[in-house]
Amino acid sequence: MVMNLKQFSTYTQSRVDQYLEQQLSDYAPANQLHNAMRYSLFNGGKRIRPMLTYASAQLVGDISSLTDASAAALESIHAYSLIHDDLPAMDNDELRRGKPTCHIQFDEATAILAGDALQTFAFELLSNPTSAQPELAIKLIQELVVASGRNGMITGQMIDLSSENKNISLAELEQMHVHKTGALIKASVRMGALSTGQVKPEQLAKLDAYAHAIGLAFQVQDDIIDLTSDTETLGKTQFSDAEANKATYPKLLGLDGAKALVVRLHEQAIAQISEFGDKSQPLTDLANYIIDRNHAENLYFQSHHHHHHWSHPQFEK
Ligand code: IPE
Ligand code: IPE
Ligand code: MG
Ligand code: MG
Ligand code: MG
Repeated sequence: MVMNLKQFSTYTQSRVDQYLEQQLSDYAPANQLHNAMRYSLFNGGKRIRPMLTYASAQLVGDISSLTDASAAALESIHAYSLIHDDLPAMDNDELRRGKPTCHIQFDEATAILAGDALQTFAFELLSNPTSAQPELAIKLIQELVVASGRNGMITGQMIDLSSENKNISLAELEQMHVHKTGALIKASVRMGALSTGQVKPEQLAKLDAYAHAIGLAFQVQDDIIDLTSDTETLGKTQFSDAEANKATYPKLLGLDGAKALVVRLHEQAIAQISEFGDKSQPLTDLANYIIDRNHAENLYFQSHHHHHHWSHPQFEK
C-alpha cells in the first residue's frame, strides 16, 4: 500500500517518538538534564530527518530495528544542534518552534549540557550491545559521525559563524549549506537505506544524489522563509539572519534567485528517484514539502500534543 504523506508522516512520527520515549524511559523524574533534553526533543519538531530515513528504508527494503535507531539518532543529533545553534554565543535566538529556546526555558549551562547529552545519546542508540548486526551498526555510526562531525555539520556551523558580517562567494555559501544542513539530511536518507542491509550500490548512488539536492534545497528554503514568513508562522524570530548579518542565499542571489534555485534543486532531486516507481512516493512528497513549507498549515503539521493536519492541496493525493 502506498500511503499519502499525511498517513506516512503520522506513522513515522509516532514510530520514532515511541522509540525515543522508550529509550529515554530510564530517566529519573525531576531530573533537570533530562527535562531539558525532553523539552528540545518533544516540542514540535517536524521530524523531517526520521521521515526521510523511513522513506528511504522502505524504498529499498524492510524497516528494521536499526532503521528505528537511525531515525531516533538523527533526530537526537538534530535537536542537539538546534539547542547549541540558538545559544547566545551562536545565533542568540530566544524562540524555537513557537516556544522559548532551551537556554531561555532552562539556563545556558543546562542547554549546553542537554545538547551534549543528546549528541552522545544518538550514539548510545546506535551502539546497542544487543544489536543482531554489529557490523551494520558500526557502518551507521560511521555515517552519522562523518555527517555530524568535524568534516560535516560542525564545519558548516563554523563557516556560518565566521561568515557573519562578511561577503562570501556563492561557492563558499554552497559549502556552508551543504555542510551545516545538507550533511545530516543526506545521512538521513543514506542511513535509512543502509539500515535495511538490502540497498544496492546503484540505488544508494541515486539516493545520494536525491539527498544532496534536497539537503541544499532545505537550507536555501530555510533562508528564504526567514524573510518571507512571519514569526508566528516560523515559530522562530523572523529576520534573525538579517539581524545577525548572516550569509544567506537570498542575500547573494536575491529572493527570486534563491527561489529559482530551490525549484531547480527540487527538479534534480525528483529526477533521481523517478525510476523507483510507486514506492518513491514518500520521498517525492517530502521533496515537495521541503520546497513548499512556507505555509502555516504545513509548518506544524505535527505536534506531539495536538493534531494539526496538512491541508495543502498538493499533498491531498
Ligand atoms: C531547522 O530544521 C534548522 C535547519 C537545519 C535549517 P527543521 O526545519 O527540520 O526544524 P524542526 O525540527 O522541524 O523544528
Ligand atoms: C541551523 O541553521 C543548522 C544547524 C543547527 C546545524 P540555522 O541557524 O539557519 O537554523 P535556524 O534558522 O536557527 O533554525
Ligand atoms: Mg545558525
Ligand atoms: Mg539559527
Ligand atoms: Mg535559518
